[in-house]
Amino acid sequence: METIIMQIQSLCIVLLIILGIRFKRETKKHIKIMLFAITWDILLILQIELSRSAILKASKAASNPMMLNIHVSIAILTVVFYLLMGITGRKILKGQLEMKTKHKFLGYSTLALRILTFVTSFWAVTPKV
Ligand code: HEM
Repeated sequence: METIIMQIQSLCIVLLIILGIRFKRETKKHIKIMLFAITWDILLILQIELSRSAILKASKAASNPMMLNIHVSIAILTVVFYLLMGITGRKILKGQLEMKTKHKFLGYSTLALRILTFVTSFWAVTPKV
């Protein structure tokens, strides 16, 4: 039951990022939606951690199923990309318009990674002990 609630939240976050991209020219709305999605995603990671010590489990990579390790790696990379989105987004706001190309490329990569995190989460589910 817990898992399904988390996966519903995960899907909502993916949909929010897609919505945020649709508002890419309405900068204020774009930033609000993206910051909301990123904050929600970090809160989701906290929920997962608190409910099943995900970090401890993930750190035992050698004994984990390969799918779980792939899922964890993509999820970590997604958070790194969130940081890059914030950095490049702020630079555009400061007037470095040449950052737009980078922000755009990183933006679609972030979306792809976030969708992969969602999809692989279904393979990574392990029975609760
Ligand atoms: C997951 C997070 C994010 C994604 C996927 C994303 C994606 C995008 C995309 C695809 C564009 C259009 C680029 C283009 O066609 O030129 C864009 C524009 C922009 N983004 Fe983001 N973004 C994200 C987060 C942020 C954040 C956190 C900020 C601010 C701190 C930001 C600020 C901007 C700005 C200023 C623009 C330019 C809008 C314009 O054309 O005037 N973005 N973003």
